[in-house]
Order: sequence, then structure tokens, then C-alpha cells
Amino acid sequence: MGKLKVGVLGATGMVGQIYLRMLDGHPWFEVSAVSGNTTVGRRLAEAYGGRGEVPERLRDLEVLPSDPKRFDVDLVFSCLPTEAARTIEPGFARAGFPVFSDASAHRYQDDVPLMVPEVNPDHLDLIEVQRRRRGWDGFIVTTPNCTTLTFVLPLKPLVDAFGVRHVDVVTMQSISGAGYNGVPSMAILGNVIPYIRGEEEKVSTEPKKILGRLADGRVEPAGFEVDATCTRVPTLVGHLASVSVELGRDFRLEDAVEALSSFEGLPQRLELPTAPRRPIVVMSEPDRPQPRLDAEAGDVRGMPVFVGRLRKGARERTIRFVSLSNNLVRGAAGIAILTAELAHATGRLV
Ligand SMILES: NC(=O)c1ccc[n+]([C@@H]2O[C@H](COP(=O)([O-])OP(=O)(O)OC[C@H]3O[C@@H](n4cnc5c(N)ncnc54)[C@H](OP(=O)(O)O)[C@@H]3O)[C@@H](O)[C@H]2O)c1
Repeated sequence: MGKLKVGVLGATGMVGQIYLRMLDGHPWFEVSAVSGNTTVGRRLAEAYGGRGEVPERLRDLEVLPSDPKRFDVDLVFSCLPTEAARTIEPGFARAGFPVFSDASAHRYQDDVPLMVPEVNPDHLDLIEVQRRRRGWDGFIVTTPNCTTLTFVLPLKPLVDAFGVRHVDVVTMQSISGAGYNGVPSMAILGNVIPYIRGEEEKVSTEPKKILGRLADGRVEPAGFEVDATCTRVPTLVGHLASVSVELGRDFRLEDAVEALSSFEGLPQRLELPTAPRRPIVVMSEPDRPQPRLDAEAGDVRGMPVFVGRLRKGARERTIRFVSLSNNLVRGAAGIAILTAELAHATGRLV
């Protein structure tokens, strides 16, 4: 069977570059069309300028406008800014394309799956609900905010083993999370900004949808609340989070460590190409994980979430830890590719 042809919408941005790197030599998918905005009409190598390396095979590809009529592909990945995604992504889905999106524009709609493939693979069933309701041949599937991902994956084995009542999280987010032109260097170098507009709302609501139960064509949100404080720090790649979780019952720390480190999901059982062998890597060194040392690590580079500093909190039934994920890989391009692999492996891309 030949490879599926894929398009990348917003291919010249921070996340777009990671798609092109991760899809270079992918066993199932091959990039054959890309879009941009200010760089439309240029060769991809020229559009990148000094921003990064373009895989050799793609250097001469023309940057297209995000118009479905210009795309002769089997599916698209979208890393468009939210406002552009709001109209462009439904245009592609209506025209029959499966759309896997990192943008927040459609994440919260009832019939749009918000996916972490190891956590809620069954939520892909919403695709059929969406198609029926909207009369589309294609569909939109979304991935979470890059910061949500940092702690929602470790929450899953805790929910399964002990139940979760409440989550408190303080994030330390890298500047790449804001996009190529996102944070002025004079604002962030030597500084910490204790506020990121709109972020705490996303980080508080998304885990409840992701860990919610799919029944009768809709997701019943999980029954816990998340308190979040989101900060921007002068690291380049990798979002770190300090997390405190009130569990549903008393627990032994070693049982929690075992639940986290032995966790695997459907992508691991199916041996999907972009699935890390362990989605959660528990670190025992007292000063890890660190963005500089660990954000690019793992058997599939950047795909595991690293968890360290596991300890009991002062309050009863509370576990505390620090977690790290690569915001551009596990938090964006990598998770969308893994989701598309899951959709393909379960017969949803035919
Ligand atoms: N950065 C992260 O860590 C991260 C993580 C998860 C999700 N996301 C989400 O992913 C998306 C992209 O983020 P990013 O960090 O890659 O942003 P970015 O570096 O600013 O890149 C934006 C890309 O979108 C293109 N674009 C802008 N306006 C467009 C329009 N109206 N029509 C078509 N293309 C347009 C740009 O093309 P030109 O270069 O040609 O102008 C560029 O390729 C956002 O929705 C963001 O929220 C980002």
C-alpha cells in the first residue's frame, strides 16, 4: 500500500517546521502540499529563511494559500493561528478532507474530538457524530493546548488507579509556545511573566473533556476541577508544570509511581510509528526533569512526558510532582501525527 499524501496548513511556523521534520521518512504519510500566509508563492526553503532546516525533498515545494481546491491530498494537519483556523478548517472538512488540528478554534465543540491518543482513543467515535450532524464528508479532530498535555497524560493512570478530586497546577512555559513572533525578547529575557492571556481557561477546561466519558454521542466531562496559574519563562522549548493532585482515596507512593511508569495506551499496543514505548517516563533524580536536558529526549524524540519529584503532599490523599513535555512535539505536531496514525490504524481514514 502506498503512503497517504498529506498537506500541512501553516507549515512555515514553529509547529509547521516540526511537522515537516517528523513526517520526513514517515512510513505511512508523505507531505505533498503546504500552506502559509505572508510566504504564499515562495519556495519552502526561501519561506523558511533563517528559521530552520527544510527536509531536502521539500525545499522546492511552493507555499500555497490555504484553499482546499489547491490541495490534492488524503488528509491535512493544521497548525494555523486560531482566527484563521476558525474558517479555513471547516472549509477543508466540508470539501472532504480529514483535518487534524492543533488550533483551539474548534476544540470545545461538542462533536469535535479533543484527543490524547493514550487517554481517550474512543473519543474518535465523535467523528461519525460530527459528519452526520454537519453533513460533511471530511471531519475535524483537535489536539489539546500544549500546556494541558504536560499534566493530563500523568493524570490518566492516577484517575484509573485512585480517582482524582482536584488538581492545582503552576506552569512554566517556554517562549516557543507563543509562536515564532510570539514574545518580544526584551519582555522575556531575564524575566518571568506571570500571566498568559486565555491560557488558564484552556488548561482548566480541557482535561475535563479529555478525561470525560463518551456516551450517547457526547462527552460527559470528568468530575474534578483544575486551578491553574500559567507563566511564561525564558526557556526555548519544553513546558514544565508543578502539579498537586488530590486523589480519590489514600494511597502508597510506590503504587502511584508504579501506576505512572507502567502506563501504556492503545498507541503502544498497536505499535504506532510515533508512539513512544513509554508515554510517561518517571525520573528518580531529584533535579529532573529539566527543559534543556529532557525536552528532546525519548525513544521517539520529544514524545514522552517526563515526571519527577513525586512525593506526598501535606494534605491527605495529595500527590505532588513536576512534569515536562515538549510543546512543539508532544504538545502539537507529534500528538496530531499520533492521532492521525490511530485514526488510520482503526480504519477511520478510508
Ligand atoms: N507553539 C506551540 O508550542 C504550539 C503548541 C500547540 C498548539 N499551537 C497552535 O498551533 C498554531 C500555530 O502555532 P505556531 O507556534 O506554529 O505559530 P507561528 O509560528 O506564528 O506560525 C503560524 C503559521 O500560520 C501561517 N498563517 C498565519 N496566518 C495565516 C492565515 N490567515 N492563513 C493561512 N496561514 C496563516 C503562517 O504563515 P506565514 O509564515 O507564511 O505568514 C505560519 O506558517 C496556533 O494555533 C497555536 O495556538 C502551538
